[in-house]
Amino acid sequence: MPIYLDHNATTHLDPRVLEAMLPYLSGPAANASSLHRYGRIARDAIEAARVQVAQLVGVTPREVIWTSGGTESNNLAIKGVADSFAPARLLYGATEHPAVMEAAESLAAHAWNVEAIAVDRRGHVVDSALQAQLAKADVKLVSLMRANNETGVIQDIAHYAGLVHAAGAWLHVDAVQAAGKMPVDMSELGADLMSLSSHKIYGPKGIGALVVRAEVELRPLMHGGAQERGVRGGTENVAAIAGFGCAAELAMQELETRTAHLLPLRERLEAGLREIPGTLVFGAGAERLANTLQFALAGYDGEALLMQLDRRGMAVSSGSACAAGNGAPSHVLIAMGYDTVTAKGAIRVSLGKDNTADDIDRLLAVLGEIARSLVAA
Ligand SMILES: Cc1ncc(COP(=O)(O)O)c(C=O)c1O
Repeated sequence: MPIYLDHNATTHLDPRVLEAMLPYLSGPAANASSLHRYGRIARDAIEAARVQVAQLVGVTPREVIWTSGGTESNNLAIKGVADSFAPARLLYGATEHPAVMEAAESLAAHAWNVEAIAVDRRGHVVDSALQAQLAKADVKLVSLMRANNETGVIQDIAHYAGLVHAAGAWLHVDAVQAAGKMPVDMSELGADLMSLSSHKIYGPKGIGALVVRAEVELRPLMHGGAQERGVRGGTENVAAIAGFGCAAELAMQELETRTAHLLPLRERLEAGLREIPGTLVFGAGAERLANTLQFALAGYDGEALLMQLDRRGMAVSSGSACAAGNGAPSHVLIAMGYDTVTAKGAIRVSLGKDNTADDIDRLLAVLGEIARSLVAA
């Protein structure tokens, strides 16, 4: 039986989510903007899902804008806010997802002054570095992630929000890996914009949301549609939206049981890894997502290890899926102060609700075997 341990890359569709989607895949064709009854059915499904996703993060449904996923949400947040100002300054954390980093850096071509904020060894944005940048006038937007996709490290967003708001800037939070895996309340975090994605929580791919507070002015990336308050035009993917809504509701209902299942599994894995000499756990000691563990086996290349595990039917990642295969070390680990060789050794295990203790034991057995063969060689 293959063992899937790559849930931060994506998750399978929960059968209950599929059930919620089916009526909109096989029912009568309807555009949610049409006024006839079928259009109204589609519209109702979209609005019901908006309530479900809003509840997941403690906002009002009106604040939820559907997008095609986390990548688009991050781009819309950064470029959409930037477009409503004359060029000024924009900051982001050095361990952000490429969809934040590259969207931010693209603004440099439009006369924006863009800076990455340093993180410490655990992957937390360094207060003094953020404050030093905020002290320079004219920062309009800061983008920081709630939980890192590679290490699982969780940041104290409410604390940073205080600093960002004191400087008069908006705070965008990439909560793609956090929402549905840990409690996320947008008001408690103090975020002004927040990115969400469905396929990280057993929903369909290609659907996400950007939550935008009423006071934030946002320009659309695409023109020509009045949907989503004119911020994100285009005929809505009703089935995907209904699926995301269902996945959000299930994540909320099952958050405690999923966490209670995942945490002991991750601890079992971490304890087992520590028995293997030379193993390094990234972000150790920091608060981390219950499902995520990134580590390196001394002397082993991450991608080579990934392929060995793959041959044994175990799916893990050697960093973020987006960076995989390009040979570059993880920018997250480099930002955390690790050297290239160590960073290239990284393996990310991201557990899902259906993994078992047996999966962990089988992974540990194979890793132990590989480590022993390395010593013997
Ligand atoms: C932290 C983070 N932000 C954004 C994204 C992009 O989300 P999507 O795959 O929905 O475009 C990902 C996906 O890996 C992610 O982990």
